[in-house]
Amino acid sequence: MGDEVLANLKHESQVFPPDEEFAAQANATAALYDEAEADRDGFWAAQAERLHWETKWSRVLDWSDAPFAKWFVGGRLNVAYNCVDRHVEDGHGDQVAIHWVGEPGDTRDITYAELKDDVSRAANALASLGLSAGDRVAVQLPMIPEAIVSMLACARLGLVHSVVFGGFSPAALRSRVEDAAARVVITSDGQYRRGKAAPMKANVDEALAGAETVEHVVVVRRAGIETPWTEGRDLWWHELVDAQSAEHTPEAFDSEHPLFILYTSGTTGRPKGILHTSGGYLTQVAYTHDVVFDHKPGQDVYWCTADIGWVTGHSYIVYGPLANRATQVVYEGTPNTPDEGRHWEIVQSKKVSIYYTAPTLIRTFMKWGDQIPASYDLSSLRVLGSVGEPINPEAWLWYRENIGAGRLPVVDTWWQTETGGIMISPLPGVTAAKPGSAQRALPGIGAKVVDQTGAEVPHGSGGYLVLDKPWPGMLRGIWGDEERYRDTYWSRFGDLGFYFAGDGAKYDDDGDVWLLGRVDDVMNVSGHRISTTEVESALVSHPTVAEAAVVGASDPTTGQGIVAFVILRGGVAEGEARGEEAIGALRDHVAKEIGPIAKPRQIMVVPELPKTRSGKIMRRLLRDVAENREVGDVTTLADSSVMDLISSGLKGGG
Ligand code: WT7
Repeated sequence: MGDEVLANLKHESQVFPPDEEFAAQANATAALYDEAEADRDGFWAAQAERLHWETKWSRVLDWSDAPFAKWFVGGRLNVAYNCVDRHVEDGHGDQVAIHWVGEPGDTRDITYAELKDDVSRAANALASLGLSAGDRVAVQLPMIPEAIVSMLACARLGLVHSVVFGGFSPAALRSRVEDAAARVVITSDGQYRRGKAAPMKANVDEALAGAETVEHVVVVRRAGIETPWTEGRDLWWHELVDAQSAEHTPEAFDSEHPLFILYTSGTTGRPKGILHTSGGYLTQVAYTHDVVFDHKPGQDVYWCTADIGWVTGHSYIVYGPLANRATQVVYEGTPNTPDEGRHWEIVQSKKVSIYYTAPTLIRTFMKWGDQIPASYDLSSLRVLGSVGEPINPEAWLWYRENIGAGRLPVVDTWWQTETGGIMISPLPGVTAAKPGSAQRALPGIGAKVVDQTGAEVPHGSGGYLVLDKPWPGMLRGIWGDEERYRDTYWSRFGDLGFYFAGDGAKYDDDGDVWLLGRVDDVMNVSGHRISTTEVESALVSHPTVAEAAVVGASDPTTGQGIVAFVILRGGVAEGEARGEEAIGALRDHVAKEIGPIAKPRQIMVVPELPKTRSGKIMRRLLRDVAENREVGDVTTLADSSVMDLISSGLKGGG
């Protein structure tokens, strides 16, 4: 992190004022900051007017039971109606909602009118299974239209969806299905990955063996591969859904009715089910999608490259863009299938105007070479976005130069699964952009950088990022664990009432915010959150491993890479377990336990782990080893010779 901070400082002087022509047509104005500051509740009330409310709220915010918020108290709405039906009723039924691009090259264009029929049929199908408002539905699907339709069908019925990333292991799916007591799971026979159809349903079956709450598994046929089947439980989507009526009357639900649960890694081994509700969440994602991306319905072609298995897909593929009547690209596959120009070919052919992606992918594009985007017509683009981890100034500048023709606004958007929507970001047309900085809390949002005592740090210094005002899209808790919600997010600064984000940050001399990465035991690999403890538990569940410590070491492409240090069990010969094969088997074991995204980049066999006298593993020292740095201060170690032992062992044994 130290080098990164220095690199940031080097670039800090560079500022790109907004283009005048862009500013003249921008959705956002500088006045928004003052309006929100003068009357925060009034500001959010105005944003909520973007939606259709069946019954209007009587009060904007009830924070009397903090940290449990109620937004738009007494209001009633249907989220799916807001994302689909009202656009059809307003005469935009023929507008394309989704330009879907399959990895093998098949495509589907779905208009808002068609989407309304699809969602209605799926809602009728789910209702026919006996599901009713409040029930949980788990969804593990590739990036196909049915994924979006499933989520909206749940929203339409007041069902709570829990989308599980397609790359997660059966064990990870299992724990999520059990935690939420899902009654139905929606999946597909298989998914395309780099030109090959990989099974998905077979993994779901493995996950569900003995899962008592699951009554039905609905299976979308995507890959046409042979699929194991449990009679009575399993149902084909095309048989169940296609036969349904396209008429379905949406019911309005309370503003605080649960919309979804999304699991994310914390500092302990057990993922947290982050709970989001309806009215406030939809208000924030619609507002931010409008002002941060300068989205113009009916004109722009928007593309967010995330997967719906992550919050970015929930908020900026499904709910925000559809609430704002976007026409968007949804792409199923990997960015290098069939070749490394795939994204730019799609931008060119679909005339994408807003493109939102992650720093890890931008750095991958840099590695693939400038000549690749240069050989496509990218002139339709007008706004570029970034999310998932701090974007290094080099990548930011490359993005603007090579994808943005050296002139497009780049918005670096900071937020989290827990925040529901974007919190800190430049506003295109308003903000003078600084490469590498997320800059300033959006109008209506309160963020601060504070020291350990909660006092705001002066400009030019660093500390912890906190959110000091409730916001409409905020999580409403951790599913089934009120205490963990209070402890994790609200206890760090005592009575100050700050939400602790888990990120380090600093102010520059102008007071702009620079994010500096996580300050807890959470790693960020390619924009995915993985806890060190989770990987450690996976490792020690292997018969050869006695103890494990995991750190995130900086990685030029993925941001961080997972590096594991393991102590072997007595009886396992060291030479043997150090062998490539044994290490490979351990890496595969982690992939099997959690998912391929959690596979360690490197595993080192060591005789001891550095621990403090109270037994806490000093990851800082292991990070020094993993990043090939001189090992730092060892004076708080219980046994200060341990680091020598580790270092010399690694030199000798590889
Ligand atoms: C963590 C949240 C938000 C959707 C994707 C990740 C890091 C995210 C940025 C950014 C610096 C960022 C933070 C945050 N992060 N965006 N623009 N600049 N850091 O969601 O999995 O909940 O992870 O991602 O560390 O806490 P998530």
